[in-house]
Amino acid sequence: MIQRIRGTRDFTPAEMHKRREMETFLRNISLHFGFSEVLTPVMEHAELFVAKSGPGVLEEMYSFEDRGGRKLALRPELTAPIIRFYVNELLDRPLPLKLFSISNCFRYEEPQLGRYREFYHYDVEIIGSSEPAADAELLLLSDYVCKSLHLSSYKYRIGHVGIIRDALHAAGVPKEREAEFLHLIDKKRLEDAETLLEGMTSSTKAEEIMLLCRTRGDISVLSSLGKTAEHLTRVLELASGAGFGNFEVDLGVVRGLDYYTGLVFEIDFPELGAEKQICGGGSYRLSHLFGGPDTPATGFAFGFDRLLIAAEKSGWKPAGIRTDAFVIAVEPVREEEAAALAMNLRRSGLSVDYDLMGRNLSRALKYCASAGVRFALIIGERERKEGVVLLRDMETGMEEKVPVARLSERIME
Ligand code: HAM
Repeated sequence: MIQRIRGTRDFTPAEMHKRREMETFLRNISLHFGFSEVLTPVMEHAELFVAKSGPGVLEEMYSFEDRGGRKLALRPELTAPIIRFYVNELLDRPLPLKLFSISNCFRYEEPQLGRYREFYHYDVEIIGSSEPAADAELLLLSDYVCKSLHLSSYKYRIGHVGIIRDALHAAGVPKEREAEFLHLIDKKRLEDAETLLEGMTSSTKAEEIMLLCRTRGDISVLSSLGKTAEHLTRVLELASGAGFGNFEVDLGVVRGLDYYTGLVFEIDFPELGAEKQICGGGSYRLSHLFGGPDTPATGFAFGFDRLLIAAEKSGWKPAGIRTDAFVIAVEPVREEEAAALAMNLRRSGLSVDYDLMGRNLSRALKYCASAGVRFALIIGERERKEGVVLLRDMETGMEEKVPVARLSERIME
């Protein structure tokens, strides 16, 4: 038997129903916040991700050569593709561009619950604004998603990688060593990060930087940092003014992707254990690296699959699906008549199915009961002569004759 690839999933009809409902929910919220949907290809030139994704993502990237010898990759994320799209085709649009996409991404990671090799991102980007208001908008949108799903426990950790970068710069740490330092901070290897600083700056400066990376607390921890923390303070004030509040400032949050320049944030849903991070994002500059203008951007991505697990753990359920009616033609009434009736009812907006298996009446009714059909519509010779259909309520077992012309109205009642 040929098995599916490790870390990938097949989705059953019930799972797809759930996933589509979650997608619709996210799509509607995004539209309400003024974002428009885009879709980019699943494959890109590998170099798109090489410039600024950082070693974490690159080591996990599915990359290969196509028959023409081009080095391609399955996208590990959606930010770089969306900015590439912007640079290729959307430069003439008025800014800010508020875009979102719900698509699959690929990373060669060790699979476990909440971590897959093919997974989905709900990604949101605001291109063209470096104003605190743009960052605040992201906090408000992501928080609105969590609140609307009634996530039982979630918390934002919010930092500003620009503050750390500024401090490294002021301490004389060479630009090319910044990323190395930030990766150690991202991996919570603070001692190694401190060791790295030795020899690159004075011990006093190193201590100051490490203290900065350990800064945690409410918004007041930013007050002693002066000008460097002005942007982050303003973002938090703006968002808080519109009802955002479930956060901790943590300047040790620097994110694993190399492109971030300012705000960085992560949302944790602790119940998910090791894979508790359900969302990550921040502000960055990528456009100039892809041949476009140096345009600021800011965005986030929810791990769609993790968000779904978190929502279900918090009691979220998709609305039930069922077939409104199932038409059963009893000999000598022919299948064509069942098909024609089903088509008529479908045109009136009902979800209707009919027997494709040549079942007799009792088997067809058994099928209706097991498939969760609401009404069985039985047409035998007598019903046909009378111009009626025998409508059987599959929940109560009650039957009534309904004239064909009144059928859809009666079902809707
Ligand atoms: P990221 O943190 O790498 O950020 O991914 C975003 C979210 O995707 C994570 O917080 C996590 O919930 C989910 N995720 C990551 N890897 C997996 C996996 N293997 N299986 C399941 N879920 C996973 C980004 O990718 C950035 N592009 C976010 C962003 C958008 N920044 C600015 N704009």
